[in-house]
Amino acid sequence: MRVLVACEFSGVVRSAFRALGHDAWSCDLLPAEDGSPFHMQRNVLDMFDPKLAFYANFIGGVPEAWDLMIAHPPCTHLSVSGARWFKDKQVEQAEALEFVRKLMDAPIPRIAIENPISIISSRIRKPDQIIQPWMFGHGETKATCLWLKNLPKLVPTNIVEGREPRVHHASPGPDRWKERSRTLTGIGAAMAEQWGSLALSEAA
Ligand SMILES: C[S@@+](CC[C@H](N)C(=O)[O-])C[C@H]1O[C@@H](n2cnc3c(N)ncnc32)[C@H](O)[C@@H]1O
Repeated sequence: MRVLVACEFSGVVRSAFRALGHDAWSCDLLPAEDGSPFHMQRNVLDMFDPKLAFYANFIGGVPEAWDLMIAHPPCTHLSVSGARWFKDKQVEQAEALEFVRKLMDAPIPRIAIENPISIISSRIRKPDQIIQPWMFGHGETKATCLWLKNLPKLVPTNIVEGREPRVHHASPGPDRWKERSRTLTGIGAAMAEQWGSLALSEAA
């Protein structure tokens, strides 16, 4: 399966898919944290722009050639936890929502968009599923919404004790946002196991 992991600097989801033999690539404006050659440091929207087909072609495919995209768009201007600032950032919000819409409309047969509890629910549509780290082996809470196209809901793989909010696990500092936004390995593994095993033809 050819998998595009959009807005991922950590390589967590890309690595989980590659470990199972998939042709998975991450794409982010930032470099890959793990230095992987299977990372494209660029605007992910270039992948779907026919005028910029080069960007998809250079890894041996065409924009339509992706089988699955998992996208982690920035939540800075969308997350409900920042609601008290909403009135001051309407332009940023509109741009962030437009970015999410473009990801949702990408010409890819299967798509998962991941975000915290956010205004995507009220301004675009409600999520198909809300998962928690403790359902996938991490004893923490962080409600994570999934908007799914042609994908089944993720089935919990390892329900564990522990309900401390994830935010308490990040140490202060300039990279705190990275710690908080990095996808958890148990969730990445579940995506690769459950969505990577779907037949390619089912969503065609
Ligand atoms: C909330 S973080 C997601 C991090 C991800 N869960 C991980 O484990 O790496 C959002 C990411 O989107 C990236 N980003 C924002 N706009 C982008 C764009 N147009 N194209 C590609 N990446 C983008 C940011 O650089 C940031 O790393």
